[in-house]
Amino acid sequence: MLRKSNVVLWGVVLFVAWNALILLFLWTRPTPDTPGNLTYEVMKLAQDAEDELERQKGLLQQIREYSAIWSRQQKKTVTPAPASPSLSSPSRGRTDPKPAELVIPVLVIACDRSTVRRCLDKLIQYQPSKERFPIVVSQDCGHQETAQVIASYGDAVVHIKQPDLGEIPVPSDHRKFQGYYKISRHYHWALGQVFHVLKYQAAIVVEDDLEVAPDFFEYFQAAFPLLLEDKTLWCVSAWNDNGKEQMVDSRHPETLYRTDFFPGLGWLLLAELWDELEPKWPKAFWDDWMRHPDQRKERACIRPEISRTMTFGRKGVSHGQFFDQHLKFIKLNDHFVPFTELNLTYLTKENFERTFREEVYGAPELRVEELQGNQRQELGAVRVQYSSREAFKAFAKALGAMDDLKAGVPRAGYHGVVTFLYRSRRVYLAPPPDWTGYDPSWS
Ligand SMILES: *[C@@H]1O[C@H](CO)[C@@H](O)[C@H](O)[C@H]1NC(C)=O
Repeated sequence: MLRKSNVVLWGVVLFVAWNALILLFLWTRPTPDTPGNLTYEVMKLAQDAEDELERQKGLLQQIREYSAIWSRQQKKTVTPAPASPSLSSPSRGRTDPKPAELVIPVLVIACDRSTVRRCLDKLIQYQPSKERFPIVVSQDCGHQETAQVIASYGDAVVHIKQPDLGEIPVPSDHRKFQGYYKISRHYHWALGQVFHVLKYQAAIVVEDDLEVAPDFFEYFQAAFPLLLEDKTLWCVSAWNDNGKEQMVDSRHPETLYRTDFFPGLGWLLLAELWDELEPKWPKAFWDDWMRHPDQRKERACIRPEISRTMTFGRKGVSHGQFFDQHLKFIKLNDHFVPFTELNLTYLTKENFERTFREEVYGAPELRVEELQGNQRQELGAVRVQYSSREAFKAFAKALGAMDDLKAGVPRAGYHGVVTFLYRSRRVYLAPPPDWTGYDPSWS
């Protein structure tokens, strides 16, 4: 934003300086002495003035354009895109559209669940524009009934089909994980289609058992510029792993956070990230692979206080028990938040870390038992401190938060801190203030 304002400021300064110079030049010209010369001089002056006016008109036009872009972005309060390196750097023939024309497809990963209808119906219902947010359904598994359901949407969606339906050779002790291998192969192929064949710059990935919230598109549209600008971010996710009804603050559906945990379940990535991951894409368990430090590289995702997706599918490779115990309780936001009109700069690394740290370590410490007994309610937000893996797991479980860790990172955690509501109080489950990093051996 500073860069943009500078451009405008310089434009104005140049414009004024140029005018001053012209005036000075005209005033200090020697007065011509013969009548013949005079006519010539006047004509020349008129010609000069006309040329000058043309030039200034062009200059003014440019200034106006920059101002318009700038004020639009000021209004939207997100960082600008046109001059950002990620947009202006040419990458393999992708075009560099202006932000207003930017196209972000939704890639729906489908297999053999005809209930994909529920996912597609909601996407189409809330889709602000078919041009700006096209829906691409990638189908694996060759399931006829599901193919018919997808085909019934006609040109409302783009239907692509993963061509390789063969079994994947897996180690014998992994035979029961064949499904995970197929999912990984499908993601590999589908993301390749989106970024190499269709040549999109970014994409939102959802699976066929996700239902989206009314402001799903609004959220991603608003967070997209953050992802472009802030290289310490690598995704925007619609999911809060601790987003159960009683654990989120429904008075603040607009609240967003940074998280070190890759949540998936409705997530936006840039083509550049695919370029980085594709050559080493794993044969199976792609989501946990992404959570490994070799891939994550200390980058964070944006996640909401209240999820913008919910999963309705019990049938699936990884769900089942996890769905019954956990996923089905995640609250889907039902309030439209006009994210593109909000100031989201509080989410930049520097801003977020400063205020988050103040909030977490400025909060008084309380023991889990005191919380459970609803004591010291006058304290407001409180911190529960843990210093070992065992303590984290015990406290998380006692307070109803997810207690598993991937590569040492707790679900929805940021710098080791997991925040949620417990009995209507804001709780920060946090490591000691001198925390320096995750221990990948915590699992
Ligand atoms: C947006 O919020 C930041 C603080 O996070 C503030 O410094 C900035 O002035 C705000 N911008 C606008 C346009 O209100």
